[in-house]
Amino acid sequence: MPDNYDLIVIGTGPGGYVCAIRAAQLGMKVAVVEKEKTFGGTCLNVGCIPSKALLHASELFDEAGHVFGKMGIKVGTPALDLPTMLRFKDEAVDGNVKGVAFLLRKNKIDAHVGIGRIVAPGRVEVKAADGATATIEAKAIVVATGSDVARLKGITIDEKRIVSSTGALSLAKVPQRLLVVGAGVIGLELGSVWRRLGAQVMVVEFLDRILPGIDTDVARQFQRLLEKQGIGFKLASKVTAIDSSGRALKASIEPAAGGAAIAIDADVALIAIGRVPYTAGLGLEAIGLKLDNRGRVPVDGHFATTVPGIYAIGDVIAGPMLAHKAEDEGVAVAEIIAGKAGHVNYDVIPNVIYTSPEVASVGKTEEELKASNVAYNVGKFPFSANGRAKANQQTDGFVKILADAKTDRVLGVHIVGADAGNMIAEAAIAMEFGAAAEDIARTCHAHPTLPEAVKEAALAVDKRAIHM
Ligand code: FAD
Ligand code: NAI
Repeated sequence: MPDNYDLIVIGTGPGGYVCAIRAAQLGMKVAVVEKEKTFGGTCLNVGCIPSKALLHASELFDEAGHVFGKMGIKVGTPALDLPTMLRFKDEAVDGNVKGVAFLLRKNKIDAHVGIGRIVAPGRVEVKAADGATATIEAKAIVVATGSDVARLKGITIDEKRIVSSTGALSLAKVPQRLLVVGAGVIGLELGSVWRRLGAQVMVVEFLDRILPGIDTDVARQFQRLLEKQGIGFKLASKVTAIDSSGRALKASIEPAAGGAAIAIDADVALIAIGRVPYTAGLGLEAIGLKLDNRGRVPVDGHFATTVPGIYAIGDVIAGPMLAHKAEDEGVAVAEIIAGKAGHVNYDVIPNVIYTSPEVASVGKTEEELKASNVAYNVGKFPFSANGRAKANQQTDGFVKILADAKTDRVLGVHIVGADAGNMIAEAAIAMEFGAAAEDIARTCHAHPTLPEAVKEAALAVDKRAIHM
């Protein structure tokens, strides 16, 4: 007799493990299926956590070399011990994945390790690494199988010299020249890590701007700041081939619109051109579940697929590929399966890029408001006018608030600056509660803090910022 559950979740990334825990809290008997040796998915193993550990360590390394002296802290020229820094990163991963294993046990969730394949609605076959198979059954199945690296045609990722984000988190030595293909989040975060550790970094981007989807004002300012740090950009360009036969990689780069190619030498090339939904081996086609034209699992407003009893969440469905989006969908779908009113507000999903300075946003960009003919007011406040930023000498960047011209409701908040990632939480809460810019402006903010710049930007919506 196969084991019988209320719910089987395939995949233990932030979507899957959070869904399993919420379902267990709601009294369901839950199993998770995971093909890797550790839980936590892309985010904990090769994504959010290791990249943030390296961003943190490399930022301190950079500051020790370039900023400490100005503050009267003499440490001499810092020396890099890369193996120890990589171990620091691995320990961060280890602590987090063990934390998920603990939470699964605590919530009495059965973990089945192996590749899960849906053989029929309500039935999952789990194939372990040694080839042994077991079948488990449940009333509902949630597909939370996440995403994988997008490949560039004709270029083979070996994770040594031509790497994806996974290889770029574990380079054995600092490359002298790092070529980054794609000026998206991964390219800029990991490009920043290796630039701080001593690499010359050149980023080649297909579009004529960095960070598509981010407010253009922010992206422009941010590009200038990265250029000041020494990162080079080649926009409106595409890498068409990388010859790895010699000691140095030779990348052919053409204008995006076509034209003569130039060659750039590099020691390591990071391919960071996006991620694609991961459904390999799940057997979706055999059960009649068709993917959309981008390989995603189509779902309705309740995360239900076209096959009754099968749901999907996280990177494998439409929407931003973000851990917190996957987590919120995990909670919502568990609640929906339990007969409750689970819901995700897609208008208020914050987005943070953990570079230095950080970039954080929530809600609509100015371009989106223009495209949908929404009349809006803009309030902008630079960190160069914020007391705490001046005290810390971290004055790069600004806060920009977009508010509805008629109702003053906050429609979007965009921040480039130190600690922007923490500051965006205030904006997200305000938007979740339907706040007007005036509400933020009239909320007492502690002094001296960076979030005072958020309050000032809200005042600036009504042209009454105090410190400008
Ligand atoms: P995943 O985390 O991808 O998990 C899916 C799981 O399913 C995996 O463990 C996989 O092994 C398993 N699986 C797949 N198929 C099967 C199968 N058939 N049987 C059994 N198991 C299966 N997002 C942020 O919000 N903040 C960040 O700072 C951030 N940084 C990132 C940095 C990098 C370098 C990368 C690559 C991504 C980053 N992301 C970040 C994105 C984030 O990792 C993803 O959005 C998130 O992991 C998606 O969660 P998920 O649960 O949908 O899928
Ligand atoms: P991305 O979608 O952010 O950026 C990819 C970039 O590559 C785009 O600018 C695109 O125009 C460009 N591009 C595409 N094809 C190209 C080509 N042939 N040549 C040159 N440029 C090309 O994808 P990225 O950076 O790989 O990240 C994947 C996902 O992981 C993102 O969706 C992101 O949400 C998530 N992530 C989130 C992080 C965070 O929240 N801090 C950190 C890292 C990843």
